[in-house]
Amino acid sequence: MSTAPDVALEARDIGLKFGTFVALEGVTVTFRRGGITGIVGPNGAGKSTLFNVLGGQLRADTGAVLLHGQDVSRSASHIRARHGLTRTFQISRELGALTVLENLLLAFPRQPGEGVLAALRGGASVRQAEDEAISRARALLERVGLWRLADSPANALSGGQKKLLELCRALMLEPRIVLLDEPAAGVNPVLVGELGDFIRTLCDEGLSFGIVEHNMDLIAALCDPIHVLAEGRLLTSGTFAEISSNARVTEAYLGGVA
Ligand SMILES: Nc1ncnc2c1ncn2[C@@H]1O[C@H](COP(=O)(O)OP(=O)(O)O)[C@@H](O)[C@H]1O
Ligand SMILES: [Mg+2]
Repeated sequence: MSTAPDVALEARDIGLKFGTFVALEGVTVTFRRGGITGIVGPNGAGKSTLFNVLGGQLRADTGAVLLHGQDVSRSASHIRARHGLTRTFQISRELGALTVLENLLLAFPRQPGEGVLAALRGGASVRQAEDEAISRARALLERVGLWRLADSPANALSGGQKKLLELCRALMLEPRIVLLDEPAAGVNPVLVGELGDFIRTLCDEGLSFGIVEHNMDLIAALCDPIHVLAEGRLLTSGTFAEISSNARVTEAYLGGVA
């Protein structure tokens, strides 16, 4: 199997059922290398399920996931992360009790060759890895303006700040492609703008993104192409102008909202 060179990630002909309920059927979408690809669609369309299949949190019944042209359909999520694919997760209740900095340090990948014994001995390599993790975390937190809150518990952050922290946690893994599921949900408009600017800057630095989002301003500002899902199927793909003038897309939204 192979993909075009400008494709970072591909879901190919994905099908997935929950019991007898068809959550995804024949879904083929690509995520552009060095681009920001959008996924939109009414609630229940299967967007988060698709991200779970791509990230390795769920295994599809049919089809394949190709990461940089390699079939990772059977790889666990941490293996996919090692190959550069990561996604954001909401800050869980337990992580909320930890500080902002601790949240990032926990996300830092273990160094190769750093076994349990080395950790117990507290060798120089472990300290070096810790120093590297702290400096990477600090650089990220400074970039998003959260360094002054490094020692605050994560659950003291606003909704928007939590989204920035989630993104920073994903970036600790030094990914090549990041999947964001509703990064603007519950975020005030000013922070949505800042988040959008940060995503665009990261993209300019060579990172690829896939974004599920209901905030159409953010989708219009950042994403090309945009894939539209409805009832577990791919309805259409195109630029924002193309999908927003597509009558089938409008119908799907009206049906989804009713
Ligand atoms: N673990 C699950 N078990 C059963 N049904 C699920 C599960 N996860 C999602 N679904 C169903 O699959 C459909 C798609 O869900 P989801 O991917 O979360 O939609 P979206 O993110 O587009 O709103 C919904 O009808 C949802 O209820
Ligand atoms: Mg969802």
